[in-house]
Amino acid sequence: MAEPQPYEKLLSLADLLAPSAIRAAATLRLADHLHAGATTSAALAERAGTRPDVTDALLRYLTELGILTTDEAPTTDAVTHYALTALGEPLLSDHPRSVREVLRGDSMIGHGTRALLHLDHTVRTGEPSHFAEPGGGYWETVNNDPAYAGEWAQQARAVDAHADLPLAWGAEQIVTAYDWSRARTVVDVGGHLGVILLALLRRHPHLRGTLVDLKNVAEQAAARFARSDAADRAEAVVGSFFEPLPAGADVYLLSAILADWDDKDAVRILENCREAAGPHGRILLADVAMPLHGAATELQYRSMMPAPARDAAELEALCATAGLRVTWRGPATGVRTLLELAAR
Ligand SMILES: C[S@@+](CC[C@H](N)C(=O)[O-])C[C@H]1O[C@@H](n2cnc3c(N)ncnc32)[C@H](O)[C@@H]1O
Repeated sequence: MAEPQPYEKLLSLADLLAPSAIRAAATLRLADHLHAGATTSAALAERAGTRPDVTDALLRYLTELGILTTDEAPTTDAVTHYALTALGEPLLSDHPRSVREVLRGDSMIGHGTRALLHLDHTVRTGEPSHFAEPGGGYWETVNNDPAYAGEWAQQARAVDAHADLPLAWGAEQIVTAYDWSRARTVVDVGGHLGVILLALLRRHPHLRGTLVDLKNVAEQAAARFARSDAADRAEAVVGSFFEPLPAGADVYLLSAILADWDDKDAVRILENCREAAGPHGRILLADVAMPLHGAATELQYRSMMPAPARDAAELEALCATAGLRVTWRGPATGVRTLLELAAR
């Protein structure tokens, strides 16, 4: 066979049909339905609530890709029956190495992945690719759209089930390296499901904490706190760090927040913390620097966040612009920069 021409190679490299077909199969749970006995296109369409004719085309294409196989011998009903190949099995939800959650399009991960199609926007502007989509930023969409509320609840239960795992991305430093003895109250700004705040309150029983985050996640954090052993010391409130924050706490924790925002927005977030902290409060900045190994990883991160790897000097410059001075520097680690800050 003749070597493909460069234009053919390019078209093949850029082709979106195979990834889209595999992701459609994951979203529609086709592997699970097949495994449960719906082996024809009509049966699968009924289970998945899809159009039988297009489902049939999808199944035939997945067969061409080697993800499905069909009966070798014609069956008595003269209808094609499909089965998963070894390649298709990880699309099953209960496969030990299942990839369904990663590939489905109707999840938070799927929402994030789709934004890659707008990589040109990131290259042009430096903004995350989501900003090129209707509805704007990733966090607003997954936090304010009720469609994602169920997934957040699922994540909250998963976090409860793994409460004994160590904190990720060097966040243990927040709990152990900082001197919490002088603080009584902490506001965890953009505190997500409250994993760090709960760890903090458990380790330092004299502390009380308030988590601020957008709607879907803050509601789940509140439910987690209510069923936790720190229920009387932890609360979660719905709010935005671009709006005034609960005032007068001793420490405002900003963990893994600024990387998601460009310099202008990062300064606004820091200024809001400074306003809420007043002259006596402190801000504990605990930002992450993602490991950018190679161009592919860098592009992936840059499509999601404008500043994946700010170093300590860059963070200190932002803090100075926001009217903050550094009052303590945490131990240097590869992934975390810990800085305690106060109003100048
Ligand atoms: C990368 S996560 C960091 C979570 C947590 N602080 C940690 O260290 O694991 C960013 C968090 O910021 C929250 N967030 C995004 N935009 C926000 C906003 N405008 N106001 C408050 N929280 C926001 C997200 O919902 C998410 O929980």
